[in-house]
Amino acid sequence: MNAIDATDVHVTLGGQPIVRGVDLAVPPGQVVALLGANGSGKSTLVRALLGVVPLASGDVRLLGEPLGRGVPWQRVGYVPQRMAAAGGVPTTALEVVVSGLLHGRRLRPPRDRRARATAALAALGVEDLVDRRVQEMSGGQQQRVLIARALVREPALLVLDEPTTGIDLPTQDTFVTALSRLRDAGTTVVVILHEIGPFAPLIDRAVVLRHGRVVHDGPPPPARGEHGHAEHDHLHPHADPEPPADGPDLTLEVTP
Ligand SMILES: Nc1ncnc2c1ncn2[C@@H]1O[C@H](COP(=O)(O)OP(=O)(O)O)[C@@H](O)[C@H]1O
Ligand SMILES: [Mg+2]
Repeated sequence: MNAIDATDVHVTLGGQPIVRGVDLAVPPGQVVALLGANGSGKSTLVRALLGVVPLASGDVRLLGEPLGRGVPWQRVGYVPQRMAAAGGVPTTALEVVVSGLLHGRRLRPPRDRRARATAALAALGVEDLVDRRVQEMSGGQQQRVLIARALVREPALLVLDEPTTGIDLPTQDTFVTALSRLRDAGTTVVVILHEIGPFAPLIDRAVVLRHGRVVHDGPPPPARGEHGHAEHDHLHPHADPEPPADGPDLTLEVTP
């Protein structure tokens, strides 16, 4: 059984075709990098795979179940591209990470929630932030809290959208180490990356999107050298305007 089985996925947003016939089968335990220029449809594709945006057509199965209530969502972790506008009620890192333990009928967090949340934060080197408000954190700190929120579930399938953008290099290494441990434990990982960089040793397979279509699916392209550019970066890196910000629900709950 594949972790992801997507067939001929099409997504239309604002009347425009954004994902145009993507097939993607990811066997369990594989670590896949999803690459492509800004605006090529990477975020939209993973949102469609997770049921966050509707498919115009096509089929998606996650962990063997068609998208919908039958998917074991508690085994799926998702780190969206950036934290939704932090407004409203002040929220601590503990609360954000513990929300990663809630799903479907589990509306009450487990007794060992603090220990589990702290362990997930520690895996990213930020356990000291546990009682801090996320609204007062830097973008990089917020990002690590969101990653911890996905890790605390010990997911079978983890999807990360540019998790290390805006994170400094030493912290990226911490994150690569955390991801290696997950891979060793058999977790399936799909990670959208701007460049492979320090992730190179972890990546089994690279899928490159261009204008909503897969233009490469196979071994990862060589990591970018000091001065060189990986091929996918030659495509209009800033050709498309930024998509609208996500609503808060996308950050705090993947379950449709
Ligand atoms: N909600 C939306 N409504 C209309 N267009 C969108 C929406 N979200 C994204 N797009 C457009 O879809 C294209 C792909 O966006 P996205 O999936 O975010 O690409 P990537 O993650 O590869 O940078 C872009 O042209 C973007 O402007
Ligand atoms: Mg994106």
